[in-house]
This record gives sequence, structure tokens and C-alpha cells, in this order.
Amino acid sequence: MRKKIVAGNWKMNTTPAEGVELLKGIAAQMSEVPQGVTMVVAPPFTHLSMVAEAAKGTGIHVSAQNCAAEAKGAYTGEVSAQMIASLGVEYVILGHSERRQYYGETSETLNKKMVQAYANNLIPIYCVGEKLEEREAGKHFDVVRSQVEEVVFNLTPEQFAKLVIAYEPVWAIGTGKTATSDQAQEIHAFIRGVLAEKFGAAAQDTVIQYGGSANPGNAAELFSKPDVDGGLIGGASLKAGDFIAVAQGFKA
Ligand code: 13P
Repeated sequence: MRKKIVAGNWKMNTTPAEGVELLKGIAAQMSEVPQGVTMVVAPPFTHLSMVAEAAKGTGIHVSAQNCAAEAKGAYTGEVSAQMIASLGVEYVILGHSERRQYYGETSETLNKKMVQAYANNLIPIYCVGEKLEEREAGKHFDVVRSQVEEVVFNLTPEQFAKLVIAYEPVWAIGTGKTATSDQAQEIHAFIRGVLAEKFGAAAQDTVIQYGGSANPGNAAELFSKPDVDGGLIGGASLKAGDFIAVAQGFKA
């Protein structure tokens, strides 16, 4: 059985105090999370340390939203994978469409970030997904294939075994426009097929999350699909009750 992972990407939201409160709110409702669902939160760097500390003993795992492409040195404003890992943080989101779009992240940068993440035992949550015009032009399979081949295909089988993938269609992020469960299933199965071309049967164990306007109202339908193994949740992860309710989509 594949793992199920529901992760909250807080993006550039919450002050440190609000972040710790949000973590505590989620922790207070962890008994309502269906068995076998791993819960992850990804706060901003400023309170990664405080949230990681507050998460100890709650069963909630912590992720960074990004890491530097280099190990250390004169890179003003950057945060290294080693710094992140030293806080007890287990995951790092890499290649989010907002970072590709606003900060120019390319496959070349992401390959370097992957190296840093694995060197420090962080589990990457690698994001892929097409823009609206790419879907409308019928290019979504090609776009996602390239994003997978150019980065994931460079991993060793041992590294690949730990990888989490998040399919996030750019047109569904923060727009209230969710992919239908059939659209999600179609492309998740496609991604798994591409992974299998390189890694064989191991692709059956890869967690592929869906992200993009997932919320308590649509999570059960999305998670009912065989290749949708969880969610990467933005807006709906900023309220403890909503985040828990999304995870409960796995009960239905
Ligand atoms: P929303 O859930 O706010 O659409 O964001 C999705 C996302 O980008 C998670 O990484």
C-alpha cells in the first residue's frame, strides 16, 4: 500500500506566533485524522524552527518550502538544506510553480537543490504541473513529462524511493478552480507511467499528491482516485479545522 500524505504549504502566510498557533490547532485535532495519513506542514523559514519544536510529539511532520541550490557560503539571503535539516525538519518542497514562475527556477537549479536535499536527508516534495495555456493547447502531458524527466530521472533508485511528487496544475492554484478528479487521475496515472519507464515497479510506491484549490468540499472526491495519494494544500491549510477536514477526505 502506498503512503498517503497531506501537506499544508503555508506559503508566505502567518507570523511566527500565528504559525505556532496554527500548528497547535492542528495538533489538537490529530486524533481526527484517518489512520495511515501522514500530516505535514510547511511554514515560512522565519518560524520553521519554532514550528518544528512545537510539532515534536504531535505526529505532525515539518517541511521547508524551498532550499538553496548550494551547500554553504556567500549566497546572501539563502537557506541551506543542512540548516533546514538541523532543525529536525524532514521534508522540503522543491520546484513549486510559484518558484518556477516568480524566481526563475529551472530544471538546472532544481537538480542542484535535489542534490542538497538528499545530501542532508530531506525528503523532496517535487512539484510539477502545466499552465492554463499549456493545458488548453493539449501540451500538459509533454510539460509534465519534461519536468519529471529533467529532474527526477537524475535520481538514483535509492533516492527515488524517498521522493514525493505533487501534481499542481498552475491554473488550479489559488484560483478556486480545481482539476476534476478524472483530470487528476488521468495525469497522476500518466506521471506514474513515466516514472515506471525509468524506475520500474518502484513507481508503484511513489506518493503523488494533488494540489490546486483542494479543500474540505472536494478532497474526498479527489482522494477517491487510485493514483491520488494525498494533497499539497495551500489556502485550506491555513485553518486547522479545514486542513484536518481535507485529510478526512481519505475516510470517505
Ligand atoms: P491552493 O490550495 O491555495 O490552491 O494552493 C495550492 C498550492 O500551491 C500548494 O502548494
